[in-house]
Amino acid sequence: MSAIESEASRDRLKDKVALVTGAASGIGLSIARVFASQGATVALADRDEAALTRALLLLGDGAHLALAMDVTDESNWTAAFERLHAQFGRVDVLVNNAGIPAQTSIEDTSLDDWRRVIAVNLDGTFLGCKHAIRAMKTSGGGSIVNISSIGALKASTIGPAYGASKAAVWNLTKTVALYCARAGYGIRCNSLHPGLTHTPMMDQMDEAVIARLRSAVPVQKLGEPLDMAYAALYLACAESSYVTGTSLVVDGGYSL
Ligand SMILES: NC(=O)c1ccc[n+]([C@@H]2O[C@H](COP(=O)([O-])OP(=O)(O)OC[C@H]3O[C@@H](n4cnc5c(N)ncnc54)[C@H](O)[C@@H]3O)[C@@H](O)[C@H]2O)c1
Repeated sequence: MSAIESEASRDRLKDKVALVTGAASGIGLSIARVFASQGATVALADRDEAALTRALLLLGDGAHLALAMDVTDESNWTAAFERLHAQFGRVDVLVNNAGIPAQTSIEDTSLDDWRRVIAVNLDGTFLGCKHAIRAMKTSGGGSIVNISSIGALKASTIGPAYGASKAAVWNLTKTVALYCARAGYGIRCNSLHPGLTHTPMMDQMDEAVIARLRSAVPVQKLGEPLDMAYAALYLACAESSYVTGTSLVVDGGYSL
């Protein structure tokens, strides 16, 4: 039995309300399920309404809810926090996980392609942080977890917008952490940097690219969504109460 399944550790997010974006699939869905298993009430946010409905069923009992939203639209963030405030009176944890990949070289990337990736990965995370700070500072604080990537740390020949967006999320995280600490808001903000993880996002990647990346991982295997969910749980819960502005790399040694 893993630590997370043991009786003693089932309440690490007891009485907490968590909002997870991109929660209908992959890493976000795994985070939502682990948070729910640790006692949190989870709001799953995603733009894919059909997948969101299926994801909500997987969470089982609890007051969990599904929020159809596009993280690039600020009015959606306003509505989401208003709904959570009305329903639960607070939000304790935000995981900015929604993201999209990019796979073209810089020469083949159009300005529209670039802006689409930056909009979801960076603008969406910025809006999430901004609205979470407003909500959390009036309810005693909270924890923001921004899902960045090893793409923030290492250069790649493909997907310039992806790496740039994730590097910006890394810096934004530190800015939010410093700002909130100095303001005395009790809000922590940390970034989680997954390595190559076995999720539907990977279905959009070329098989040859995946094989090349897998062989480059020192532990010789891909990460699983649950590996990322356990790391997000640590950053979300009180066990990391002295941790803010840090970057937690979970990549099987890929970035070494
Ligand atoms: N899978 C990997 O190898 C890997 C590696 C490093 C970082 N990441 C990051 O982890 C996060 C999750 O990735 P994943 O692999 O689970 O992807 P995924 O495609 O399985 O899930 C992403 C989810 O985000 C949602 N989404 C996309 N755009 C949205 C928008 N504008 N508004 C709301 N929801 C939106 C999608 O509908 C989807 O449900 C992303 O930020 C990604 O960049 C993934």
